[in-house]
Amino acid sequence: MSEKIAIYPGSFDPPTNGHLDILARALNLFDHIIIAVTESEHKKSLFTVEERVKMLHTVTSGMQHVTVDSFKGLLVRYVKEKKASAIIRGLRAISDFEYEFQMALMNRHLGLKETASIETVYLMPSENFTYLSSSLVKEVVRLGGDIDSFVPESIAIELKKKLKYA
Ligand code: PNS
Repeated sequence: MSEKIAIYPGSFDPPTNGHLDILARALNLFDHIIIAVTESEHKKSLFTVEERVKMLHTVTSGMQHVTVDSFKGLLVRYVKEKKASAIIRGLRAISDFEYEFQMALMNRHLGLKETASIETVYLMPSENFTYLSSSLVKEVVRLGGDIDSFVPESIAIELKKKLKYA
């Protein structure tokens, strides 16, 4: 039987413990997860794509069945290129729903022309992370707050360096 590959796409600006929680859950469902970093059309990023890929490499080093990559352009095209069958997204609260619903249906529509079937699979993070977002983590660092329970140590160091709080 062929390997079940899922793509976990996102901005990951920066990766948080919430992302790692979703990754661990996805690994229980699929044979291989490709974490795929891209620029978001809606957000101005703090870290370059290369920096985010590097940070993700560090925090997933030693994990089996995980690859870190980046892509440009349409997600569904990338999914097809990688011969993946699913897109993984984390769903934290009702407030995420509308955006995620729009994206999933748009990807399904685009996917129909691109490939056989791509399903978006939504996973709920641990309740400790339901209020966690990369944007909030950046804001807390900017304001000098403690983020140690929200991101791995290597990410906290990079964030503080970037925002000149080191
Ligand atoms: O972490 P984010 O910023 O919520 O991730 C959003 C992301 C990167 C998954 C989304 O913007 C995306 O898929 N971008 C790739 C371009 C694309 O395919 N756009 C149409 C999606 S409906």
